[in-house]
Amino acid sequence: MTEFKTVRGMRDFLPEEAKIMRYIEGKARRVAELYGYNEIITPVLEPYELLAAKAGEEVRLRMYAFKDLGERMVALRPEFTPSVARLVATTLRNEPKPFRLFCVGSLYRYDEPQQGRYREFWQSNFELMGSSKPEADAEIIMLTNSLMETVGLRNYAFKFGHIGVLRGVMGKEGLDEKVQSDAMQLMDKKQYDEALRLVKEAGVSNKCMATLRKLVELKGDNLGIIEEMKLLVKDYEEALKATENLQEILKLVQASGCKINMTIEAGFARGLEYYTGIIFEVNVPEMDKALAGGGRYDRLIELFGGEPTPAVGIAHGIDRIMLALQLQKARLKIKEEKTVIVIPVNEELKGEALKISQMLREANMPVEVEVSGRKVAKALEDANRRKMDYAIIVGEKELKEDSVVIRNLREREQKVVKIGTIVETIKGKSD
Ligand code: HAM
Repeated sequence: MTEFKTVRGMRDFLPEEAKIMRYIEGKARRVAELYGYNEIITPVLEPYELLAAKAGEEVRLRMYAFKDLGERMVALRPEFTPSVARLVATTLRNEPKPFRLFCVGSLYRYDEPQQGRYREFWQSNFELMGSSKPEADAEIIMLTNSLMETVGLRNYAFKFGHIGVLRGVMGKEGLDEKVQSDAMQLMDKKQYDEALRLVKEAGVSNKCMATLRKLVELKGDNLGIIEEMKLLVKDYEEALKATENLQEILKLVQASGCKINMTIEAGFARGLEYYTGIIFEVNVPEMDKALAGGGRYDRLIELFGGEPTPAVGIAHGIDRIMLALQLQKARLKIKEEKTVIVIPVNEELKGEALKISQMLREANMPVEVEVSGRKVAKALEDANRRKMDYAIIVGEKELKEDSVVIRNLREREQKVVKIGTIVETIKGKSD
């Protein structure tokens, strides 16, 4: 018989890790509630064309794409944004804007598996659609900061840029959109020399090249750098507007009292092609991959046939946040309940053990029952091995008195208590 393994790039999450993944998801859900984002659930499988439209080569070439049995070209979603944009362009098109929409789930990209890069991974995704104002961009940054803070991450930093800066400079000389996008893709991979060569070969002026060269080197850790950016692009109207927009957004974030570490990089680009405004990522020093990424994309919804709808959003990589927390050896505040097992002393008392367990669950106390027919000593040994907190031993003598034995497995002591007081005996101790 073949021994089955997971498909390359796919992982199982055992209980310890599953708990952390759900803990992060839970925090994201709470952030969604706190900021007024409503959850939507969209399909894992979407039309290939929808997902490919503005994905950028990096993502497009790594999609799990195939024909279904009805000969439709479909793909597993590599991200949420096209699905949300599809909904806003169709079903939700006549609903009042803005929309605040939240999704969480698994995504698929045929990336080369390595630490922090998987073929199936998880995101919590926030989209704010229907506002072009800088306060909308600021909100996405603030909620991301709330998430990173509440999961317990340390030393994380935002990286900011604006698509309009580089595009503004390249666009003024009429550089073909495709060349611009290809150059940005290279810049996303930090291949700046190749990107600049591509632009040069497309035939732009020396002045444009000089400006681009200076831009890709310009970075700083505070808003002061934006003044330098403005000076550098002062002859490029669109680029200047973009720089001012970036400044306004970051000033609003500051005004909110939200304190973040940041770098601002004039030459920052992202692989996805739909961005039109500010772009951002979150990083930690322990990892060379981003924990989250997003930005403004004002034209995707109309590209999908909807009303022109400006939008901004972000996706947080749940797997990578977990990895960062592990690398930082973070102590997570995951609420742990006492673990309890109910053990009948003999076969005849199985029914009583089930009855008591059920009563405890109805009183909101999680319990397990011994289901392997083991003798008390064996069952206790196993409970100790599993570091459980309490055993409730159901014996004939005590039952006659409406009682059971409660054994505190940590402190290795036991006492007889009335069945009606089990919950307070166990919970009372833990509170
Ligand atoms: P993205 O930068 O492609 O953006 O992905 C966002 C985050 O998903 C990354 O920062 C990373 O944490 C996680 N991620 C991506 N690929 C992998 C992988 N192979 N393994 C593990 N984690 C991964 C988007 O997906 C955009 N849709 C974000 C957005 C929303 N823009 C606007 N709205």
